[in-house]
Amino acid sequence: MKQKFHTLLALSLLSLLPLPVWAQAGGDFSTPDASREAYSQIPWQRIPENLWDKVRSGRALVRQTWVISPSIEPRIAGLGPTYNRPACISCHPRNGRGEAPATQDEPMRSMLVRLSIPGKDAHGGPNPEPAYGDQLNEFGIPGVPGEGEACLEWETRRERLAGGGEVELRAPKIRFRQLAHGALHSKLMTSARVAPPIFGLGLLEAVPEADILALAKAQKAARQGVQGQANYVWDAAQQRHTLGRFGLKANQPTVRQQIAGALAGDMGITSELSPVPNCPPAQTACAAIQGKIGEKHPELSAADLDEMTLYHYILAVPEPRRQDEPQVKAGRALFAAAGCVSCHQPELKTGAFPAFPALGGQTIHPYTDLLLHDMGQGLADNRPDYRASGRQWRTPPLWGIGLAQTVNGHAYLLHDGRARNFLEAILWHDGEARKSKERVRRMSTAEREALLAFLEAL
Ligand code: HEC
Ligand code: HEC
Repeated sequence: MKQKFHTLLALSLLSLLPLPVWAQAGGDFSTPDASREAYSQIPWQRIPENLWDKVRSGRALVRQTWVISPSIEPRIAGLGPTYNRPACISCHPRNGRGEAPATQDEPMRSMLVRLSIPGKDAHGGPNPEPAYGDQLNEFGIPGVPGEGEACLEWETRRERLAGGGEVELRAPKIRFRQLAHGALHSKLMTSARVAPPIFGLGLLEAVPEADILALAKAQKAARQGVQGQANYVWDAAQQRHTLGRFGLKANQPTVRQQIAGALAGDMGITSELSPVPNCPPAQTACAAIQGKIGEKHPELSAADLDEMTLYHYILAVPEPRRQDEPQVKAGRALFAAAGCVSCHQPELKTGAFPAFPALGGQTIHPYTDLLLHDMGQGLADNRPDYRASGRQWRTPPLWGIGLAQTVNGHAYLLHDGRARNFLEAILWHDGEARKSKERVRRMSTAEREALLAFLEAL
């Protein structure tokens, strides 16, 4: 009787303990929502009430379909002269990830192709293709031709798993058609990139630079073949090079500059961080129409850019689910044992963050080190981006990744969306991640299923 009482007492005490830390994926900026709106949750109680209108306004701008100037709605005007899509959420549906076209006949609806040639721009970034700039813009406003179309042709191969079983892997080849300004440069380098999810980014901006550099140092000291490298990129606001954190090669220093880059590169909208209209010299119709519209640059006000940034800062991170299930627990252990954690860092802490103080002092579980890693030739785009080599990619955060299917109706992963599920994504890991990949290949079926269940529960 006494024994039973003690057990009961222990159990009831256990249930009183605070949630395990990993349950709070984004610290105070976490959400239990696991619906298709899971990436769009706003933790209102963490946001000073005097900012609520700005958050709503930032959200409206991110969801907005932008229109051509001149317009009776000047605030949302300025699309083009050339662009990819008219809204942020065309590529980041429900703040989630984009998708690669399934066949070469389909257009790119939520991805883009970066272009450059050998050499560097004035700040050490990629050297744009002379006639097309640093990104292929498929559309033009009336009177301006779109630059052309890019399509993907898939090539497949098979990878064997230990204990039988095979997985088909597909890799894209980029083809261009209907090019408006003649042949592309003979030394052209391309990089097809799918839009990643956009929640939790304020927390990642608030991780102290020193902590990220310390991770790189620890990886080097561990001598396990994993050695992350920081990217240093041009920070237009500070007019100097700073640590890159955003974009698939950590090629943007801040959320604000990332958004300004998206506005300019993907939609043709200028802002104070990207004030020059994107009309390479060969594109005369583009330049002529800029002159004719005679519109003001920047097209987006600094206040509107701030509101869009604020919305990105505060978007909550989905909490992991099913964490008490034995299979998920086993998967968590295997994720560590396979060495996934050296790059996909389970836990980071944010430092002081004056731009939005509530984001500071948080313990978060993003599963990224924000560093670049050599992922082998199979994943290489062979297109350098500041210090990132053609084989390096930034470790993507894995928080919320288990909800990809729920939010976007697919879980197509990796920089170009080639992986159609978690296992394919893992089997593409090579280079610094080769050992990890091999461990997964050699796992028993039950172990592999547990690892995947863990990812599904994030
Ligand atoms: C044509 C598709 C497309 C459109 C339109 C688009 N994006 Fe993106 N977005 C991308 C791609 C692709 C990347 C990765 C870019 C890279 O690595 O170079 C990205 C990256 C980002 C990131 C960085 C995320 C991270 O984890 O580092 C943010 C933030 C972002 N976009 C916000 C926006 C906003 C805001 C808009 C609208 C102003 C927008 N995007 C419009 C495709 C798009
Ligand atoms: C050496 C660092 C490193 C290690 C070790 C590593 N990863 Fe990754 N992981 C990356 C990078 C970098 C990418 C992005 C590659 C790309 O997009 O081409 C990635 C991508 C992923 C993705 C797709 C994410 C997305 O948003 O598209 C998943 C899932 C993933 N890794 C799981 C794992 C698992 C599971 C392990 C352990 C078996 C592991 N990774 C080990 C660096 C690593």
